[in-house]
Amino acid sequence: MTKENLETLLSKHPANKKDGLLPILQEIQTEHGFLTDELLAEVGRYINMPVNKVYGVAAFYDQFRFKPLGRFHIQLCRGTACHLHGSSTYLGELEKQLKVKAGGTSRDRRYSLELVNCMGACESSPVLRVNDTFYPHTTPEELTRIIRSLKEITV
Ligand code: FES
Repeated sequence: MTKENLETLLSKHPANKKDGLLPILQEIQTEHGFLTDELLAEVGRYINMPVNKVYGVAAFYDQFRFKPLGRFHIQLCRGTACHLHGSSTYLGELEKQLKVKAGGTSRDRRYSLELVNCMGACESSPVLRVNDTFYPHTTPEELTRIIRSLKEITV
């Protein structure tokens, strides 16, 4: 995110107002993909809040990321309905096959894996999403197929 982009984004919010923290962080993440120490420091200066408090608020909410997403961002639902339909067994397979830990990004930045609480599609559980593609009623066989196809895509 360029300095100019950040200044433009911040200028839409009143300076020295701590109420603007969450929307500012959300907008930065939407634009930049994740939050950095430098961006958090700039936000703190703008709203007049110590950077450690800005970081504390950001770290409190699951929605904020501090690492870049992978080329393929995988969201696995761990909500109750999906859990009851076996999604918890999928986590280990994704981590092992794609060499990425939950909440992290693979070293080559090809994959990132996020656990989400509910995607609002419980009737289609278990569900997972890869970038914009939603996979309802995912079976273990389908998970294997999804993983294989991700590995085969050359980018
Ligand atoms: S629990 Fe997975 S979509 Fe609701």
